[in-house]
Amino acid sequence: MTRFDILLKGKLTPTERKKLRTSLDILGEIAIVEIPRELSKRSSVIGTAILKANPQLRAVFKKATPVRGEFRIRGLKRIAGKGGTLITYRENTCAFKFDIAKVFFTPRMSSERLRVARQIKNGEIVVDMFAGVGPFAILIAKTQPHVGMIHVIDSNPEAIKYLLESASMNKISHKISAYIGDSRAVIEAYLIGIADRIIMNLPLTEEQFFPSALKTIKKSGILHFYTFAKTEKEVQSKIRRSLQKRAIFKILKIRKVRQYAPRIWNFVADIRIERKLNKSRQAASRPGHIRS
Ligand SMILES: C[S@@+](CC[C@H](N)C(=O)[O-])C[C@H]1O[C@@H](n2cnc3c(N)ncnc32)[C@H](O)[C@@H]1O
Repeated sequence: MTRFDILLKGKLTPTERKKLRTSLDILGEIAIVEIPRELSKRSSVIGTAILKANPQLRAVFKKATPVRGEFRIRGLKRIAGKGGTLITYRENTCAFKFDIAKVFFTPRMSSERLRVARQIKNGEIVVDMFAGVGPFAILIAKTQPHVGMIHVIDSNPEAIKYLLESASMNKISHKISAYIGDSRAVIEAYLIGIADRIIMNLPLTEEQFFPSALKTIKKSGILHFYTFAKTEKEVQSKIRRSLQKRAIFKILKIRKVRQYAPRIWNFVADIRIERKLNKSRQAASRPGHIRS
């Protein structure tokens, strides 16, 4: 029996305990927990037990809404402890500071971020199209000091504000060039044809961003594409649908990064863009176009 179970003994019935998943996201000094609706009235008892079982924590929050909206933010409600949602968090030798109620962040991709950072070559120019608080960008800049430059884009001004603060805390600001806005507009205005590598981490609406990814890439390059899907085959068909008329490409690898929902996975595909197809060829291969 865990310390958590001992603390909950007599406070939850065995049936209630079974309904409670114990997977916690620990982010620095706070924990975020999912409490099923049926146990809502027990939130404070559960939060207090988590706090006592993890003395390094200052507060426990429960998930109050799903991740939602353009900025992918989740509503949170404090159920035990004190203080707010501004935290400092360490991951893979990097320090981050952000308010988790104002930005997207998941600690469940830390090993994926390391995997990508390890692929960076000297002098590479990276474009992170949906950078959030910069967990990819800051790790790359810190662990690959010979990277050329990392251009980070996010439409949430709070995310870019915290990203720049963390870049300064990690002493890698000189490697980061930041933009607030829709990545399509930012690329069009500032970043055409400059990238060796692109990180596209906006699962759900990602397919509409492929044309911009191709605009920012040099003649060739690598794309890390994140998506939600049930199977690897589904990922392959999303990629084919989005890319086959626009580029010659090779899917190097597809892997599951984490579970997103029952039977749905967050996948990543590493794709090598070998050559972009020129506009006339793209138009000619568009369905419905008749060559004269
Ligand atoms: C799933 S989060 C990924 C954040 C970061 N890459 C990470 O791993 O933590 C997606 C991010 O894209 C941003 N976003 C959503 N739509 C966008 C758009 N059209 N252009 C730029 N950023 C956008 C959101 O604000 C959010 O921070």
